[in-house]
Amino acid sequence: MKKAAALLFVLCVLVPGSRSLAAAGDPERGAVIFERCTACHRLDGRNRVGPTLHAVVGRNAGSVPGFRYSDALKSSGIVWTEESLAAFLENPRARVPETRMTFPGLPSPVDRQDVIAFLKVK
Ligand code: HEC
Repeated sequence: MKKAAALLFVLCVLVPGSRSLAAAGDPERGAVIFERCTACHRLDGRNRVGPTLHAVVGRNAGSVPGFRYSDALKSSGIVWTEESLAAFLENPRARVPETRMTFPGLPSPVDRQDVIAFLKVK
C-alpha cells in the first residue's frame, strides 16, 4: 500500500515536473541567439558564407542548391532534426570534423534548444 502511494506520488509529481524541464525551446530568445549566426547565415533563401538556414529543420545536410559545401558535410548522411542540430551546434567540428563552418559552437544546452526552436519556425 505504501509502495503504491509512493508510486502515485512519483507519477503525479515527478513526471510532470521532468516534462516541464524538457520543455521546448523559446523561439524569441532563439532569435537573439541567432544573431551569432547572421555573420554567415541568412533566412531569406540566399546563401552567404554559409548556406541559407530557411527551412533547415527536416532537410538533408549539404542539400541547398548552389552552395559549395565541404565534402564532409555533403557525405555526412545527416538529416537536420532537433537532435542532430543540437549535436552539431554544440561543437560543429566534433560532429563533422572536416566541416567548413568555423563557428566554435554553442556550449549552453538552453541556447541550442532556443535557437533550434527559432529555426523550426523559419
Ligand atoms: C563563420 C561563419 C559561420 C557562422 C558564424 C555560423 N555558421 Fe553555420 N555554416 C557555415 C558554413 C561555411 C557552413 C557550411 C559547412 C560545410 O559545408 O561544411 C555552415 C553550415 C551550417 C549548417 C548546415 C546547413 C546545411 O544546409 O546542411 C547549419 C544547420 C548551420 N550552419 C547552423 C548554424 C547556426 C545555428 C549558427 C549560429 C549558432 C551558425 N551556423 C553559425 C558558417 C557559419
